[in-house]
Amino acid sequence: MDNDRTKDLESRRQRVLAGGGEARQAKQRKQGKWTARQRLGALYDPGTFQELGMFVEHRSTDFGMDQADAPGDGVVTGFGQVDGRLVYAFAQDFTVLGGSLGEMHARKIHVIQDLALKSGAPIIAMADSGGARIQEGIDSLNGYGEIFRRNTMASGVIPQISVIVGPTAGGAVYSPALTDFVLMAEGIGQMYITGPQVIKAVTGEDVTHEALGGAQTHARKSGVAHLTFADETALIAGLKRLLSYLPSNNLAPPPAHPAAEPDARAAAAVEQVVPDDPNKPYDVRQLIFGLADEGSFMELQEAYAQNMVVGFGRLSGRVVAFCANQPRILAGCLDIDASDKLARFVRFADAFHLPIVTLIDTPGYLPGTAQEYGGIIRHGAKVLYAYSEASVAKISVVLRKAYGGAYLAMCSKSLGADLVLALPTAEIAVMGPDGAANIIFRSEIEAARDQDATRKRLVAEYRNRFSSPYVAAARQYVDQVVTAGELRPALVAALWAVGEKSEDRPAKKHGNIPL
Ligand code: HXC
Repeated sequence: MDNDRTKDLESRRQRVLAGGGEARQAKQRKQGKWTARQRLGALYDPGTFQELGMFVEHRSTDFGMDQADAPGDGVVTGFGQVDGRLVYAFAQDFTVLGGSLGEMHARKIHVIQDLALKSGAPIIAMADSGGARIQEGIDSLNGYGEIFRRNTMASGVIPQISVIVGPTAGGAVYSPALTDFVLMAEGIGQMYITGPQVIKAVTGEDVTHEALGGAQTHARKSGVAHLTFADETALIAGLKRLLSYLPSNNLAPPPAHPAAEPDARAAAAVEQVVPDDPNKPYDVRQLIFGLADEGSFMELQEAYAQNMVVGFGRLSGRVVAFCANQPRILAGCLDIDASDKLARFVRFADAFHLPIVTLIDTPGYLPGTAQEYGGIIRHGAKVLYAYSEASVAKISVVLRKAYGGAYLAMCSKSLGADLVLALPTAEIAVMGPDGAANIIFRSEIEAARDQDATRKRLVAEYRNRFSSPYVAAARQYVDQVVTAGELRPALVAALWAVGEKSEDRPAKKHGNIPL
């Protein structure tokens, strides 16, 4: 090729690589933020990133846009290898027009969304943007709409992960919300549908950007963020770890890992984790650490609806989706937020053929007006729907309490669990023994001379009859009763037995999950 053309190409490249210029990049660094290209450089295996659409230009002329220089139109898009696997990504460049999304910026994103879907590869969205490019008006809005539609088409086909490393305001939050996982960097990423100024004008409320939509807010209060990280370095490491559990698409297996043993200390303590006393709290994660391959458990939405624990882990090298009631918080009751958290995770696991292991210890759905008025009926129903709909391998373990509707909801045999295991401490009953005895023996208790002693005796009678795994095992609602020490080998065997099972569902356009 003639030298001039090569030089021309090189100078065009350099212009785009400079982004919004040194001053704006310095401002970005001062805020503790990386540039778009730094982020992609950290994500991809060295030398594998292929940039697409580098020379795209906007064609807007309104409000001085004919004079606006916007290298790459404010977004870097392409594909490459992450730990040797094909992954598509885009990173918005805040140094160029505030990373705002105009017509051509959006089109670059559409192109890689389409390629990722066609190629069956995960897509990562790195958001750092002032939202819709105000000068481009409805062309910007159309750009968002086309992204949302593609997010929805790709849902359940390829993993979609959003990384929030800057402002994400207005409609811009809805693409992340449509993706499978949202990762946020503390103090850098912020998400809200309207910013503090609008809130002040409309409601008079004073709130900072961080309190309104920072990482902690979305990790603890809203549940929008699945993972948060202290900085961008930690975030990229966490993102790569998350990818290591996920198949590239809904027809591919998850990445293979060598079989490993659980952490030795946690495994040795497994027999002690679940107390005999049904009212004694404990941390179910200690049990998961003793069951899963060492270091493999990655909890999601850790600080949100803590009465439910969800996360990926491995059992003898195989990826599984762990779901567990957390008796340490609200005694492990199912409430609105826990139901939402669980149902969405179960649906992800099912869409991507990741076997679901459910650990059950719950006294029931949380009673009260706050829950009833908030719609526990429709939210709780999501759990029933998600487990019933799931055709992936479903293995359930009753650890201790499994009462009433919550017993059914936590992937009972009736909802299609393939194998149900129980510990000897399991109590499977229509309701807790105290409540049950008070209702069915009320007149007997009232007529007794010593009501307290009679109540205690009748509660104990009820507990002995129903609050064990053996009535359920007699009907084969429970397939195996095992000790905690036998649980891991039993789970590994169960996974081996039903991990690849298949089940059909009636043909339909789609179901109508309760919301
Ligand atoms: C065009 C924008 C922009 C936008 C920022 N810029 N947002 N340009 N459209 N939406 C430009 C600024 O003019 C500035 O240009 C540069 O980006 C950097 O912005 P600053 O304001 O200087 O940065 P900072 O002080 O860090 O503040 C960041 C910010 C703020 C908090 C994000 O820029 C902001 O509030 N932007 C608007 C956010 C917003 O309301 N978006 C919603 C749009 S409507 P110069 O040339 O000076 O460097 C929407 C609806 C979509 O998104 C609906 C879809 C369904």
